[in-house]
Amino acid sequence: MTDVVTAFAPATVGNVGVGFDILGHTVEAIGDRVRITRSTERGVRIRAITGTSEALPLEAERNTAGRALLAMAETLDLDFGMDVEIEKGIPLGSGLGGSAASAVAAVVAGNALLPAPLPKLELLKYAMQGEAVASGSVHVDNIAPSLFGGLVLTVGIDHPRTKQIPVPATVRCVLVHPHMFLSTKEARRILSDKVALSDVVWQCANLAGFISGCYTDDIAMLRDAFADVVIEPQRQALIPGFAAVQKAAMDAGAIGCSISGAGPTVFAWCEEPAAVAIRDGMVAAFRAHGLEADQWISQIGSGGARVIA
Ligand code: HSE
Repeated sequence: MTDVVTAFAPATVGNVGVGFDILGHTVEAIGDRVRITRSTERGVRIRAITGTSEALPLEAERNTAGRALLAMAETLDLDFGMDVEIEKGIPLGSGLGGSAASAVAAVVAGNALLPAPLPKLELLKYAMQGEAVASGSVHVDNIAPSLFGGLVLTVGIDHPRTKQIPVPATVRCVLVHPHMFLSTKEARRILSDKVALSDVVWQCANLAGFISGCYTDDIAMLRDAFADVVIEPQRQALIPGFAAVQKAAMDAGAIGCSISGAGPTVFAWCEEPAAVAIRDGMVAAFRAHGLEADQWISQIGSGGARVIA
């Protein structure tokens, strides 16, 4: 019987612009790791959190990984306990799906300790409960891609259905993370719950165009459908220099550029040859607004979360 398991879950770009709360994709270069040691004492205990200088809750109920594992342990009435160590590889408050990745890595590691491992769709429900602790609401656009890998659309909340969407092979994602913290709860609190009908129509058309462009390798369609006309206009003021960073990406040949999750990371989709120029332009634009930044160029396909030891 396995007694110690470590799992990795990748970072994610939530929303991918047009798919607020329902569409997201993996960023394979970074992620969180969770190590679980089986215990004879029932319950879930967070023993250590490393990789961040910020104080994250050690109380399992208030911790994203802990809450997800408690949901699993309670639902399955597990007769063993779990001692949990979390290694954060994703910067906190970055818009790169850090809370989701910890929850996903936790349930994937926990699953490997079960006598009969569960399908990923079951794990998704437990991880969603963990994500809700951090963001104040249940949404799946980070959880689902981190768990399944690649670009993932999720339909439904109580009984979610997920679909991995193919992405044209030449497409890369450029990510630029300015050194500032943005609270997901705050970035959600400022959103209006009223949207003009014309914007709903425009956003629906763009989401449909974006998904169809992915299925048909139609880069021109992706370019025309990329704009998020509902959420980005409300949030961009939270990110100093956002308009300049977006313009720099588009001037350098990006297919589209928007806010990753709740921000402040900004992402751009592009074809591979343009990626370095886009990255450099975005970094320079943040610097001109007084912000240093980390950056990555990522492929979008990946196998998602997995046991690594
Ligand atoms: N879809 C979420 C949002 C992602 O944009 O608020 C952040 O967790």
